[in-house]
Amino acid sequence: MGKGERATFDVNPRLTPSSQPLSLKKGRNIHGLPTAQRPVKKGLLSEDEGVSDREPSVLDLRPAHCSAAHSASPLLQEALDTSVLPLHKRKLLHDTKSHAFVHVEEPEVPLFILVTTYFSYLVLIVFAHLRDFFGKRFKSQEYAYLRHHDGYAPIFSDFESLWRRRLYQRISDCFQRPITGVAGAYVTLLDRVSNDFNRTFKLTGTKTRTLNLASYNYLGFAQSTGPCADSVEQSIEQFGVGNASPCADLGTTQLLRETESTVARFLGTEGALVVSMGFATNSTTLPALVSKGCLLISDELNHASLVTGSRLSGATIRVFRHNDTSHLESVLRDAISQGQPRTHRPWKKILVVVEGLYSMEGQFCDLPGIVALKEKYKFYLFVDEAHSIGAVGPRGRGVCDWFGVDPRKVDIHMGTFTKSFGSTGGYISGKKELIDFLRLNNHSTMYGESTSVPVLQQIASSVRIIMGEDGTNDGQRRLETLAFNGMYFAKRLREMGYLTLGSDGSPVAPMLLMNPAKIPAFSRECLKRGISVVVVCYPATPIITSRVRFCLSASHTKEDLDYALEQIDTIGNLLMLKLGSGSGNQH
Ligand SMILES: Cc1ncc(COP(=O)(O)O)c(C=O)c1O
Repeated sequence: MGKGERATFDVNPRLTPSSQPLSLKKGRNIHGLPTAQRPVKKGLLSEDEGVSDREPSVLDLRPAHCSAAHSASPLLQEALDTSVLPLHKRKLLHDTKSHAFVHVEEPEVPLFILVTTYFSYLVLIVFAHLRDFFGKRFKSQEYAYLRHHDGYAPIFSDFESLWRRRLYQRISDCFQRPITGVAGAYVTLLDRVSNDFNRTFKLTGTKTRTLNLASYNYLGFAQSTGPCADSVEQSIEQFGVGNASPCADLGTTQLLRETESTVARFLGTEGALVVSMGFATNSTTLPALVSKGCLLISDELNHASLVTGSRLSGATIRVFRHNDTSHLESVLRDAISQGQPRTHRPWKKILVVVEGLYSMEGQFCDLPGIVALKEKYKFYLFVDEAHSIGAVGPRGRGVCDWFGVDPRKVDIHMGTFTKSFGSTGGYISGKKELIDFLRLNNHSTMYGESTSVPVLQQIASSVRIIMGEDGTNDGQRRLETLAFNGMYFAKRLREMGYLTLGSDGSPVAPMLLMNPAKIPAFSRECLKRGISVVVVCYPATPIITSRVRFCLSASHTKEDLDYALEQIDTIGNLLMLKLGSGSGNQH
């Protein structure tokens, strides 16, 4: 099959016929629906992409569709059993107990795969260098930008850009696919072709509707209809769109303060600060908290925003092995006994920075273990809950909720609104003194633009829905559906014999692909079958553990997941990806 061609797999009724020309007819919205048919405005997970005949939620489907084969795990069994009860009587997946931390071992990669994977990379790198070597000599004009020219040094080194030019570009059709409309349970891709080996792409004018397993739309709040969208519309009418000012000047509005107090109430903390960008929340808060003479201890897999903030702070940085509390303890003991470098003075303060849920691994941090160390060694604890807030815990309140840890034991709660809340921006939450201090010392609040009105309203409305303050059980149903979807999907993958990573209960299910050729192959096979996925490889992962990350959402029905699993099963056979025991248990 040639590039750009699409096979049609019509098994999934929610996939509309692919490749329709983009055109807007009079009286129709962007989805081609008559404007009068704007989908329902109230209730659970109304469809955003113009599909008004949305199927029942997974909660309605579960009892009829769950086969015995799917229900071997006790947690999953519990999920399935409880779903037959009416909602008000249903025992939640995790309401009665807090979870103990379970260390999930990385699955063992067979030696044959290990050797062939390294060998494939070796071949790719050798050929990349050879092409550069000959290219510079025989096509000097084309390679001029990599050499000294007109007295200028090259703007980037040819060696450092080798990965992007020679390896990433070969498979870049799998990334940054342009989309149109709302990225909800389904997402519409704008089809494109490349006639120069992915150097440039051209839109073909057609589009393809795909099942979206690639967005962090955990609770399904990425919607253009429903109560959040309605309140956003009203707030724009009332307050306009932007404030044209940082918070420290005139950007602190009534809506901002109300949103901040809603967030603090949700998290069970004394106060909260809302920042207009998640990345900047980390990169500007850490420098406000620590500086020269302080020690910042970071998990080795912390997000780039945390790494940037740590480096900008000027504090001494030590790194501990991912989620390894005994290594963290040894780093702490060493640092406390030795004090600052050269002078051996005591540290001004020690801050440990971790994430609540590591999205690349789908793994919870060992919060109970870290809190126990905190009580012993008296350091401050910063937890980035970008992927766990709203997505885990019986009340959606993140890892503290999941592990049953008192939120007051975490000094600095950080999270973003880009994932579970269908909005943008980030927050810092904690004691009142901390928040008051940060209002005056964080560059985002002092110099950054304050969060815009629709974004704030989306945050406030979605948080209220999760808390049930809207008077419905919409939030609770979303949380339950997501919990079920996450466990069901990961378990089925393991049963099929795939090597998966991650904790039970994670809304992200990473699955190993390993061999470099299988990264684009998997993504393209999924696209042919109408499924969008995120594939990840080195340098975002170790070289041997390239993976696909399936992002589950409360907006996915069980039928959606079954369709995806069926297709993934076929692709796994095609690409020989099933290397696990097929027991369905975690590794
Ligand atoms: C752990 C973590 N922190 C911070 C961020 C930055 O958030 P945002 O994308 O909202 O800027 C991300 C983004 O994915 C993240 O994964």
